[in-house]
Amino acid sequence: MRKVFVIGIGVGNPDYVTVQAINALNEVDVFFVMDKGREKEDLVRLRKEICERYIKDKSYRTIETIDPPRDRTASSYEPAVRAWHEQRAGIYERLIGQELGENECGAFLVWGDPSLYDGTLRIIDRIIERGTVAFEYQVIPGISAIQALAAKHKIALNRIGRSIHITTGRKLAEGLPNNIDDVIVMLDADCAFKAIDNTGIDIYWGAYIGTEDEILVAGSLRERMHDIARMRAQAKGRKGWIMDTYLLRRSKQQ
Ligand SMILES: C[S@@+](CC[C@H](N)C(=O)[O-])C[C@H]1O[C@@H](n2cnc3c(N)ncnc32)[C@H](O)[C@@H]1O
Repeated sequence: MRKVFVIGIGVGNPDYVTVQAINALNEVDVFFVMDKGREKEDLVRLRKEICERYIKDKSYRTIETIDPPRDRTASSYEPAVRAWHEQRAGIYERLIGQELGENECGAFLVWGDPSLYDGTLRIIDRIIERGTVAFEYQVIPGISAIQALAAKHKIALNRIGRSIHITTGRKLAEGLPNNIDDVIVMLDADCAFKAIDNTGIDIYWGAYIGTEDEILVAGSLRERMHDIARMRAQAKGRKGWIMDTYLLRRSKQQ
């Protein structure tokens, strides 16, 4: 039976790769690498570095495929993402069915953790639903941007007995949720933090966390938001891409 690993590789520092992930890497015959285009070249390179560093005495093949771009002009976000996943499911299905021998093991290396803002597991479910190729699969957790952010700022994410909320820049633009004092924001290309009511809010921000380009800023949102937006734009201009995550925290007095 074909086997597929979905392996979380952490968010940038090869030291974030777990022992379980290393053991899985050493079983893999074929790595499927989706090339997402210009700004993601660095990320593809890191995946290759991880394989070279951790795989000992095992030969493997790497199959690179172009990841189809998502339609960013579509008026409705969720149907556009679903259509994109469907397109990718077709590609992954072909990779597993045609590039993997009957008893071989393949792997998708997922940035951070596969359970968090990543389509790979939904795509695998879709391929299983289609039922055209038989395989078993296993998911290996990785260190997500959220865990890396918290470690770098040396903070616990929740306050005692309280909830935390994980969201995107797109959702934050609708406003901070009520009754939640700790909100983690990912996938924010537009600095949505600049437009919310910033009274009594602190921000813990990190870009390129775990890499040599890492930038960390913490402080009052009102005082730091323009600095963060400026640093973000400069870093993106310099490198061609940026990934940043932040925690917004209502101070205890509020
Ligand atoms: C498509 S999501 C993938 C999340 C990933 N699966 C995880 O577990 O962190 C991409 C978002 O993750 C966050 N991210 C990923 N890597 C990061 C890093 N090294 N530093 C800061 N944020 C990062 C950013 O918010 C980025 O927009």
